[in-house]
Amino acid sequence: MKTGIGLIGANLNLRAGMVEANYPRDIAEIRAVCDRDPAMLELYRKSHPEEKIHYCANVRELLADFAVDAVFIMVRDQYHEEIALAALEAGKAVYLEKPMALSVEGCDRILATACRTGSRLFVGHNMRYLASVLKMKEIIDSGAVGEIQCVWVRHFISYGSCYFRHWCARRETCNGLLLQKGSHDIDVIHWLAGGYAARVAAMGKLSVYNRNPDRLKEGEAPDRKASFRGDCWPPLEIKGLAPDPDVEDHSMLLMQLDNGVQASYEQCMYTPDSERNYTFIGTRGRIENIGDFGDCQIHVWNRRGERKSPDIVYHLKGGDGGHGGTDPAILRDFFAFVREGKIPNVSPVAARYAVAAGCLGHQSMRSGNIPLDVPPVKPELLEYFRNGQKKT
Ligand SMILES: NC(=O)c1ccc[n+]([C@@H]2O[C@H](COP(=O)([O-])OP(=O)(O)OC[C@H]3O[C@@H](n4cnc5c(N)ncnc54)[C@H](O)[C@@H]3O)[C@@H](O)[C@H]2O)c1
Repeated sequence: MKTGIGLIGANLNLRAGMVEANYPRDIAEIRAVCDRDPAMLELYRKSHPEEKIHYCANVRELLADFAVDAVFIMVRDQYHEEIALAALEAGKAVYLEKPMALSVEGCDRILATACRTGSRLFVGHNMRYLASVLKMKEIIDSGAVGEIQCVWVRHFISYGSCYFRHWCARRETCNGLLLQKGSHDIDVIHWLAGGYAARVAAMGKLSVYNRNPDRLKEGEAPDRKASFRGDCWPPLEIKGLAPDPDVEDHSMLLMQLDNGVQASYEQCMYTPDSERNYTFIGTRGRIENIGDFGDCQIHVWNRRGERKSPDIVYHLKGGDGGHGGTDPAILRDFFAFVREGKIPNVSPVAARYAVAAGCLGHQSMRSGNIPLDVPPVKPELLEYFRNGQKKT
């Protein structure tokens, strides 16, 4: 029997398009689509004239549809918690976009509701399916660079102005970009370093996009694609930014993990180039990725010397499909989890710790850079999720 999908957020140019392009037709079908914007629903309907899809203007109506077994929550972050809680209560399997929620408490409510209802929960941290990340994990797990002690991540984002065109420009709708964008990387750091942030401190600043004078007028729609074009440069001269941004456009997060590893993550939203550059340093060497989503290399340095080139270089090909091949891979894993109980690469508990480090990082940078302790997840919830979302 096919798994009935309900899409919440119908924008085919964005995340709904990701599901649409990649879901496995042999085992699943889209049965209901919800969007609060009637124009988005109409566009979706027009592009699917032959299909019997139930169109809903609100989430409650979609959740009441018994033909829907699994929902994809693909709307802006401020609604993640409310919609995820309602979907879990309705007994639907949930694919929730990252970041899991806007607060640690919100994430904990989602974890607790999933545990109480037994509804399956999956958070879409697609970087856990990226070839460069998987290769670095394989190298670290093999012991080739010893015990990881130190992690440095630099994140350059050439299309960062995109976040200053729409809802991400404001704290009230996304909290900040260390959480919104950085939750991907914090999750990767946690996964590869084998621990979760226990204490964080951060600095960050809105330093460039607040000085750009070209602002959208009230009611004017942002041109999100503009930020991906080559002529969108330099950042002080680009057009069509949201009025009154109040999120930081560069930030620096320091983390002490619960296994003793120390890590730093630096994000800049106005660089000319784009790359996530990870370095994991262990007791017997270090690894570093050169390139991330497309064809790339992983460099391994594990002999002492004055050499200019690494000891081992792995050459990786970018995967087919969106986001470096991660979109089809994460959807395969979601359906294997929902249908067969296969434990996926992603983890709701890890998603919660990524939110915790991001939120507390924002709190730290906005209150004198003080160090803050991350509250742990309750042991009974840890046990439930460690056990593959089964009660013992
Ligand atoms: N994993 C990734 O690589 C990746 C990449 C991009 C975006 N995202 C995530 O995808 C999510 C969606 O981002 P977006 O910019 O497309 O969001 P968005 O809210 O601007 O748009 C998505 C669609 O949802 C609709 N919508 C918004 N709120 C709704 C509500 N309460 N009920 C019903 N419909 C609603 C909008 O009308 C729109 O059609 C975010 O959480 C973002 O973090 C993930």
